[in-house]
Amino acid sequence: MTIVAIWCRHSGDNVIGAGSGLPWKIPSDTRRFRNLTEGQIKVMGRRTYEGMPQKVLMGKRVIVLDIDNTCEVFDKENHFIVDNAEKLKDYPEDLYISGGASVYAVFFTTPKIMPDIVVDCVYGGEICAESKDLININASVSVLEQKYFALPQHFELDGVTTTVWLKKGDFVEQSVVKKILQYLETEGK
Ligand SMILES: NC(=O)c1ccc[n+]([C@@H]2O[C@H](COP(=O)([O-])OP(=O)(O)OC[C@H]3O[C@@H](n4cnc5c(N)ncnc54)[C@H](OP(=O)(O)O)[C@@H]3O)[C@@H](O)[C@H]2O)c1
Repeated sequence: MTIVAIWCRHSGDNVIGAGSGLPWKIPSDTRRFRNLTEGQIKVMGRRTYEGMPQKVLMGKRVIVLDIDNTCEVFDKENHFIVDNAEKLKDYPEDLYISGGASVYAVFFTTPKIMPDIVVDCVYGGEICAESKDLININASVSVLEQKYFALPQHFELDGVTTTVWLKKGDFVEQSVVKKILQYLETEGK
């Protein structure tokens, strides 16, 4: 099993969200997330799940992390609740960790479920002026900088620079890395 984390953070302050939504509107970033996770199991926290448009997740396989198990999923065939992220260790399929901040924090600080690969999208533009309740991932980025190394390729699109990082000292499934890089090399062309 390969665990891939994917996010878009704001350059400098590592902000990823405002309240239950995103503090920017970047269609190519949304498309990148959709294409890189297509057909894969997305893992997300209850707040991110509830904040995403239902049509984006309908029919897609999603694991919703929800400690108190009260979240009502809207696609009972494809969406499942897990009350403890550690239960996902040794999961039989690849997992794409899709946020939000508290879920990234759990995965980056729990050795048995630390992501093998991180798709690190960094947005250098302005945050929407009316954004409130900004949420950052400083803690997860700090782990990223210490325990991962960046591949040399950088991909630029619409003010977002994407870099792929791999966990130091561990075997990382190269076919998954290759597939991600192939997508990033061709997007926007
Ligand atoms: N820019 C990006 O790439 C990106 C990606 C995703 C999300 N976001 C943004 O991130 C923000 C949401 O982040 P958030 O930190 O507030 O919420 P979140 O991580 O989406 O969800 C938090 C909830 O997840 C559950 N949870 C947390 N740790 C768990 C664990 N170890 N085991 C089981 N369940 C666990 C808890 O649910 P219960 O309280 O129900 O128990 C917790 O309240 C939003 O602004 C969203 O737009 C941004």
